[in-house]
Amino acid sequence: MRIIGVIGAGQMGAGIAQVSAQAGYAVRLSDIDLARAEQGKAGIAKGLDRLVSKEKITVEARDATLALIEPVAGVDAMGDCTLVIEAATEREEIKRAIFGTVGKVLSETAILASNTSSIPITRLAQAAPDPARFMGVHFFNPVPVMGLIELIRGLATSDATVAAVEAFGQSLGKQIVHAHDAPGFIVNRVLMPMINEAAFALGEGVATMRDIDTACMLGLNHPMGPLTLADFIGLDTCLEIIRVLFDGTGDPKFRPAPLLVKYVEAGWYGRKVKRGFYDYSGTEPVPTR
Ligand code: 3HC
Repeated sequence: MRIIGVIGAGQMGAGIAQVSAQAGYAVRLSDIDLARAEQGKAGIAKGLDRLVSKEKITVEARDATLALIEPVAGVDAMGDCTLVIEAATEREEIKRAIFGTVGKVLSETAILASNTSSIPITRLAQAAPDPARFMGVHFFNPVPVMGLIELIRGLATSDATVAAVEAFGQSLGKQIVHAHDAPGFIVNRVLMPMINEAAFALGEGVATMRDIDTACMLGLNHPMGPLTLADFIGLDTCLEIIRVLFDGTGDPKFRPAPLLVKYVEAGWYGRKVKRGFYDYSGTEPVPTR
């Protein structure tokens, strides 16, 4: 499995491309056009430059990693990939359309995996070229830092597919956990109710934004408080996942916090738009309420 395809050159796709290339795989990094794929690679180069300046990696290692990443437009160049990881926008119709296109070029033995954070794998598999060679491979943000990969098999995923993707994940130096194809898998099943509850607590005036975050950082030893983490992930993404949990289980404990809904309706999606629970337009994040 030496040639890896990564579809989607955003934060997650670029991170997956980076760690794959650092592990020695040749990577085809694609997006809807070449400019976006190249932008993804430029972001990787910037991150690697930071590691060089901190003397974490050598200039030669940076150059070797970058040389292994080839930005491509679309998926036509993925015909010789043994594993293709889709990390496109978290919208089912977009992923389904990609699977249809990539299915036309994938070899008969290639594996297709989705980095979806919450869409059921068995349902997505219906759009894959071969459900036996399809599964979920869930990375965490920032991919180069986070040590975990969740593997999720669909009803039809073969043992050989799971074994091959597990070996790939281990070769990246990540710890593998296996989850059933249930809403939110493991991490988001546990994390999103915490973020949602923090939004409830904020909305009910239990404490200030900063105190909720400080309480969880220092009282639970989390690297970020839940509201800061929500901004980091994207409030729209958090809301989408909590809705998947709510719809997928029918359990009212997963109902979205009204304040979270309100922020998303305002377009305050978090760091990526410089405003979420906090305002990121200055040098330091400032609470928005
Ligand atoms: N790429 C590469 N390295 C990065 C990085 C990036 N994007 N961001 C940070 N780093 C590295 C830094 O170089 C630094 O490395 P060093 O310790 O070797 O020098 C290290 O990470 C720490 O970075 P910083 O000192 O800049 O900043 P922090 O100490 O504040 O750490 C953080 C930043 C790693 C993001 C930390 O705050 C953290 O772990 N936060 C929680 C992240 C988290 O929970 N992610 C999971 C989200 S859930 C998810 O992804 C699932 C999805 O489906 C929603």
